[in-house]
Amino acid sequence: MRTADIGVTGLATMGRNLARNFARHGHVVAVHNRTESRTKQLMEEHGDEGAFVPSSSVEEFVSSLRRPRKAIIMVKAGPSTDAVIEELAACMEPGDMIIDGGNAHFQDTRRREAALRERGLHFVGTGISGGEEGALNGPSIMPGGAAEAYETLGPLLEDIAAKVDGTPCCVHVGPDGAGHFVKMVHNGIEYADMQLIAESYDLLRQALGLSPSELADVFREWNRGELESYLIEITAEVLGHTDLATGRPFVDVVLDQAEQKGTGRWTVQSALELGVPVTGIAEAVFARALSGHPGQRAAARSLTGPNGAAPGAELVDDVRRALYASKIVAYAQGFDQITAAGEEYGWNVDRGAMATIWRGGCIIRAKFLDRIRAAYEADPALPTLLAAPAFAAALADAQDSWRRVVATAATIGVPTPGFSSALAYYDGLRRDRLPAALVQGLRDFFGAHTYRRVDREGAFHTDWSGDRRERSA
Ligand code: 6PG
Repeated sequence: MRTADIGVTGLATMGRNLARNFARHGHVVAVHNRTESRTKQLMEEHGDEGAFVPSSSVEEFVSSLRRPRKAIIMVKAGPSTDAVIEELAACMEPGDMIIDGGNAHFQDTRRREAALRERGLHFVGTGISGGEEGALNGPSIMPGGAAEAYETLGPLLEDIAAKVDGTPCCVHVGPDGAGHFVKMVHNGIEYADMQLIAESYDLLRQALGLSPSELADVFREWNRGELESYLIEITAEVLGHTDLATGRPFVDVVLDQAEQKGTGRWTVQSALELGVPVTGIAEAVFARALSGHPGQRAAARSLTGPNGAAPGAELVDDVRRALYASKIVAYAQGFDQITAAGEEYGWNVDRGAMATIWRGGCIIRAKFLDRIRAAYEADPALPTLLAAPAFAAALADAQDSWRRVVATAATIGVPTPGFSSALAYYDGLRRDRLPAALVQGLRDFFGAHTYRRVDREGAFHTDWSGDRRERSA
């Protein structure tokens, strides 16, 4: 019977919770899992939460969907995704759609969307942020794919998305892989945000000797101000947690080697190709990589460090201001990357809309995103968020603290690649003349790569090995 409004195949926790979310909102939900026991488990544990239509095969699953069929894949992104897509597509008819809710690479999504479009099917790569809790109670949802698909799919997704001021945290991001791209950048910003938080914790602990539980109070206090956000909120929870097995602070029993599934790395790889300096995200990815080299770290342990003077308690508020300033830089870089990708791939992503749907449900949800949305509403063509009046003022206000934090960290030997790179980016972007001029001269000297001049159009080369006269290239 074609009765289900939407279907979910892949019933691990995220998929199961997404299906439950749809059911709780009154939709008839077809459910399927390769291992049928998972489907049975969902029906036993949550079957009474709404109208589920369980299936034991892909064919049965697809045939239970009302047309145009909408099947959401919730499987681990990778080669298995293609196999699942093929199984579903084989049972579908023109106009039906497959929605990939995993963290797939946007280039894979572009490829899959083009291939399925050839077969008359829609493929909607969709970023779903907020983890298991978000999937159940309201994620931020970033669907790409054709606008035509969103006409029938969009209302269903907006129904289950997080809401902020009554606005769903879901909007059609743009065609083909735009949704997965924006989710990837969301994760990159998440990395940068988490790195800055970790540096704040580390610097205050090393410099002032504050305990994890004292630092939990600091972050709890910060969460009442301009830094209010999910990540600051949970930082207070994690730092305040005591390891039950040892009675020690939880953060002290965790192995200090950060792992990564790959979306932050993808963000940096894409930014390198697009020519966007996402220095905050890159430093966060590399900081995780550094932490993952215990052999090198053991060999470096005996290297001499400084014995700089310990700072005073004013460092706490300095770090708060530096954290906000560095966060502005990291988000500005992420939005720059979305802009560049929109131009590269013809997506024309609405940056204000992205800030709007990130206000709730997702991991980087924060009051701060309201300010980003306001900045783009005031000037949709804003060349950099740093130039938005509110952010320019906040950066000016944070200046002295920011520089003291970077200087203090360097003085006492605490690594703050996030803070330092954000300040370097800020100082680089605002300079009227950069040392890139010398780089051009050196490139021309050893490789005759030519350079442009400030006072004339065109490209030039100096005959460095001859009479050193300049000629047009
Ligand atoms: C989200 C999360 C989610 C996942 C991260 C983990 O938006 O809900 O970002 O996508 O938790 O991908 O990423 P790492 O393992 O790379 O830190």
